[in-house]
Amino acid sequence: MPVPPSLIRLRSAAFWGLSILVALASWRFLLLGVELSMPFVAYHAQVRPLEFYAHIGLAPVALALMPFQVWTGLRQHRPQLHRWIGRIYGLAILLAGLGGLQMAFGTTAGPVAGLGFGLLAIAWLGSTGRGIWLAWQGRIAEHRAWMIRSAALTFAAVTLRLYLPLLFVSLGETAGYSLVAWACWLPNLAVAEWVLRRNRSLLSAA
Ligand code: HEM
Repeated sequence: MPVPPSLIRLRSAAFWGLSILVALASWRFLLLGVELSMPFVAYHAQVRPLEFYAHIGLAPVALALMPFQVWTGLRQHRPQLHRWIGRIYGLAILLAGLGGLQMAFGTTAGPVAGLGFGLLAIAWLGSTGRGIWLAWQGRIAEHRAWMIRSAALTFAAVTLRLYLPLLFVSLGETAGYSLVAWACWLPNLAVAEWVLRRNRSLLSAA
């Protein structure tokens, strides 16, 4: 059954709006400082300041740019701009992903959360790196498929913040946080695979 256009518009507005909103909210530390704006992770700033600030400063750059990269109109009409935004997106993920990986190893949230975030960081770095390498090789269908996976993982920043209050209320803080470290990205990746399989032309050479 075809999806009604009003639902497509609503979905697209939510995707853009939530990505930009979470990115902007993540930079709250610039105004308020980390101790005040994100006290629950402020310890990272003492132990691994470089990795921490690379992550909280640059991961929102990737999140804010991601909707532009999946926007067909921009890719078709301004391909040069798409390439430049792609370079910034890739660099932001390289630095923020390495920072996120270090933070996952050092988190005090427990081994289940640490492993969930650690694997997310590896998948984020891997899918984005592969996608960019494929673009350099001119293998555009495969590039597209891998960047859709990368975008789904970048969107984990949004899904985490949507699920967290519900999981805290239903499971408590410790179990809720352990679960969200997996739930924020595995379903996103499953949706990306489903989208790719439904649109076989996108996947043709992946
Ligand atoms: C997709 C790969 C990502 C990984 C592996 C990752 C990993 C992490 C980890 C391990 C922490 C610390 C959690 C703790 O120790 O309790 C954290 C915090 C944070 N991350 Fe990420 N992250 C990712 C993506 C993003 C994105 C795309 C954003 C963009 C908004 C982002 C923004 C933040 C912020 C602002 C914090 C500080 C805590 C907060 O405000 O929620 N992260 N991240």
